Amino acid sequence: MNFDLKTLALSAATADRSDLLIVLVPEGFRPGSDALSALAAHALKSGDWETKAGKSLALYQLPSVAARRVVLVGAGNGSARSVRQALLGCAGALKAPQIKKAAIVFAGAAQPDAVAAAVQAIAEASYVYTATKSKPEPRALARVTIGVPDAAAAKAAFARGVALVAGVEFAREWANRPANHATPTLLASAAKSLGKLPGIQCKVHGPADVAKLGMGSFLAVARGSEEPLRFIELHYTGAPKSQAPVVLVGKGITFDTGGISIKPAAEMDEMKFDMGGAASVLGVFRALAELRPAINVVGLIPACENMPDGRAVKPGDVVTSMSGQTIEVLNTDAEGRLVLCDALTYAARFKPRAMVDVATLTGACVIALGGLRSGLFASDDTLADSLLAAGDAALDPCWRMPLDDEYAEGLKSNFADMGNVAGRAGGSITAAKFLQRFVGDIPWAHLDIAGTAWKGGAAKGATGRPVGLLVHYLLNEVGQAPAQSKATGRAAAAPSRPRPARVA
Ligand code: BES
Ligand code: MN
Ligand code: ZN
Repeated sequence: MNFDLKTLALSAATADRSDLLIVLVPEGFRPGSDALSALAAHALKSGDWETKAGKSLALYQLPSVAARRVVLVGAGNGSARSVRQALLGCAGALKAPQIKKAAIVFAGAAQPDAVAAAVQAIAEASYVYTATKSKPEPRALARVTIGVPDAAAAKAAFARGVALVAGVEFAREWANRPANHATPTLLASAAKSLGKLPGIQCKVHGPADVAKLGMGSFLAVARGSEEPLRFIELHYTGAPKSQAPVVLVGKGITFDTGGISIKPAAEMDEMKFDMGGAASVLGVFRALAELRPAINVVGLIPACENMPDGRAVKPGDVVTSMSGQTIEVLNTDAEGRLVLCDALTYAARFKPRAMVDVATLTGACVIALGGLRSGLFASDDTLADSLLAAGDAALDPCWRMPLDDEYAEGLKSNFADMGNVAGRAGGSITAAKFLQRFVGDIPWAHLDIAGTAWKGGAAKGATGRPVGLLVHYLLNEVGQAPAQSKATGRAAAAPSRPRPARVA
């Protein structure tokens, strides 16, 4: 899909020849003397329509407008959130096969964040999965013009939105693919394709390399599968090599059966999404290649399947992680932490300024936070605040969870340095406490995206989260995006937010 940004007044929008013209009208809209203004004012006055976010009025073949279809959409207070809501409400029109070219015009001021949100919402609404359909109907929408009162003022935000579309779609695409079309090997080839982009290098380690590194925990998970594991290493270099990188680690379980502690059959297909963390890391690199910010980023993805088999790791087996710590595998379904812990140990070699792991880690996190906010666990308050602010600004929010040391008590084992599970209570927190044993004193955060990486039910599919959060975070680190979201009016460190004491 091709986006362009233009300075376009409502009076000029009447001459736009798109298949669909969407007019975003905010509260307190002041009509001009053009035909679209007159229409909007008339509809508002007669009570047939309102400017509340998402309220729309569809019109057809207006004599004074060149575009055949016009939709007036309420943009509420004009914030990124409202604009997103407004455009997602037009998903039907944006997905229609006859709409190949659309124009979206801001009838009032266009806040930069709202322009980025518009670009992303249009892409989100019109995305179609095609990879494994025999007669795919690809996305019809090919060209989108965003019309604003002042294109120069919105340029940077627009570019960020376009880059995020590329990143989010890359992540959605790979996460949506079924496990037989997204094996560890195929995931590694997707990463290698990113390695051809400017600023990006990719290295892929196989089972022999991983054994040599001593990653006994990662190896144990991969044992039950015929598909060989891959350990993917991505480097984005946007700053001098001497500058410490941010390391992102993505859980890449391409299918999670639970292993010998096998899962129930219902909805097990959704465990193809268990590489959502990995997909988001790939998506971030895709976006970085577009934006080229002055930062260094390393991406690490331990990728394998979790399968039951004669060779599979068994409950009670003790494995030795790369850190030297031994782990009693009490439940083979708690495999995510077993692959992540070795990747976190490996990460230390890059002397990172911060590391963030991203994982569809626990069902408990879905119970705690549902599908709206990802779970955020952090050993460092500054890092936590940055990620919280980035999530709010990106409309990809998270919520900080506690890490008190007492939560780790259940991880005690009689036969190893630790077990891989504690009790049922606080399951997302005890998982985070397990990971924390492998991070040393590097500032670390963990995002549990089990509830946010995909949607179930009729709308089943990957969301591409938290690519938006992570890219905003990385850009903020180099001052390339506002640290404060004007759109939500939330300060970077909202005083109303509970701020757990540092417990690392
Ligand atoms: N991939 C799952 C987590 C998951 C489950 C995400 C359901 C989304 C929906 C993870 O590997 C897992 O199985 N976790 C277990 C941990 C338990 C055995 C301590 C869980 O959450 O049940
Ligand atoms: Mn599992
Ligand atoms: Zn899993």
